[in-house]
Amino acid sequence: MSFCQIFRLSPVVPVPSAAPNARGTRSPGNNGPCYHHAMRFLLVLTLCAGSLPAQEIDFDKQVRPILEGSCYKCHDAKRHKGDLRLDQWSARLAAGEHPVLVPGKPDKSGLFHRVTLDPDDPDSMPESGEPLSKDQIAILKTWIEQGAKWPRTAAADPDAEWNKQFAIGELTDAQKASQANAIKTVKGIGGIAGPIANNTDAIDVNLSLLGAGVTDDKLQTLSGLESSLVWLNLSRTGISDTGLAKVGGHTHLRRLHLARTSIGDAGLAHLKGLTGLQFLNLYGTNVTDAGLAHLSGMKSLKKLFLWQSKVTDAGVEKLTKSLPGVVIDTGKYAKPVVVKVETKPMAVNTKCPITGKPVDAAQAVTFEEQLVAFCCGNCKAAFEKDPGKYADKVEGLKRKPVNAKCPVKGTNVNPDHILVHKGKVVGFCCPNCKAAFAKNPTKFEAKIN
Ligand code: HEC
Repeated sequence: MSFCQIFRLSPVVPVPSAAPNARGTRSPGNNGPCYHHAMRFLLVLTLCAGSLPAQEIDFDKQVRPILEGSCYKCHDAKRHKGDLRLDQWSARLAAGEHPVLVPGKPDKSGLFHRVTLDPDDPDSMPESGEPLSKDQIAILKTWIEQGAKWPRTAAADPDAEWNKQFAIGELTDAQKASQANAIKTVKGIGGIAGPIANNTDAIDVNLSLLGAGVTDDKLQTLSGLESSLVWLNLSRTGISDTGLAKVGGHTHLRRLHLARTSIGDAGLAHLKGLTGLQFLNLYGTNVTDAGLAHLSGMKSLKKLFLWQSKVTDAGVEKLTKSLPGVVIDTGKYAKPVVVKVETKPMAVNTKCPITGKPVDAAQAVTFEEQLVAFCCGNCKAAFEKDPGKYADKVEGLKRKPVNAKCPVKGTNVNPDHILVHKGKVVGFCCPNCKAAFAKNPTKFEAKIN
């Protein structure tokens, strides 16, 4: 018996939660027994017309593997083609006139539209490789109908990291009162003080604009902010090592700027307790390797500025050992370390350019820095003998542009935007220039270098 049959025969099956409500937004669990029977029947019909049974789709178990297998190749952190990432949620997905995802409405969602196009359509996704199967498409459809819920785990939500900075906990009335008082006092001496964002009690104080006038005694104004101060800028002020004793009590601090002050190693000893600190600027201070030792317990530290301090390479290396997650900027720019990422190369084509048969991934050669696959060793050998003869028949192959600069704008060529003109592969910086060229090639021809 098919799912639809079961569904029609059984009056006790709950109405699935897939139904978008009148406004097209998700309807989380408010579909109780009060639903009209006819409505229920309609829903069943809709479901049977191409969707999966409307059990709640599990994003991580059902949707992510599809995106991972067919889309990450071009839409992840490294290769966000079309400026689109599908490896994590972002507001971009729901933004714009033609959003990638419209919760509740697969037909209005660019993602669904693209995967349901004819694979020969240039807009079809995945752009190359196997099209999604019917089952995979049905999962995506049901998932979008159910609200396209994308779990915002810490790893999947770039905002989560940012929001953590504000996580100071609920303030008591007494704490709120002393906070208000302290903000007034800081402003009273000409400093900047206030909540770091809307809807948070986390406070940002900046005294750097007051310069050398801010001496240790002025740090008294921070009293009352112990439970809420998260950002503090004391750069270029006249504070000393002794003054930092006062700062060390603000254990919610996430960012601390001490650049171009006269503080040194003794001052950093007072900061040991700031274990939540993520950002510390010690540019142009008297800090030495001995001072860095005081930072070794700051396990949250992500970024440390040490330009023009007295720290040596050995000191930096030692700190990096106790804080492997930290990025230390010493102002000496070494060559970037190229991290080799193991990726399984994928052939650009699914059909053999010679026979048109499906390719065998083991029979592939690299041509113009792209992997081209064939149905068999013979075809591969034929191609290798005379690639020029077959190259144009390889679907998905991007031919290398002959020019480095866009003939329309003169800016660098992006190899994603090419066209073949008089047998030459011409590259452009953007689709607009490509279109301009296609319209009137003679105008720009001379600029193809
Ligand atoms: C081989 C590379 C490649 C793969 C694989 C791929 N895409 Fe794309 N995708 C692109 C390129 C290039 C663009 C930008 C050009 C365009 O819009 O067609 C794009 C654009 C898109 C867009 C349009 C973005 C917008 O702003 O509207 C969507 C949606 C999309 N892809 C979805 C997917 C999905 C879903 C998959 C997996 C099923 C996928 N893509 C797999 C290359 C790829």
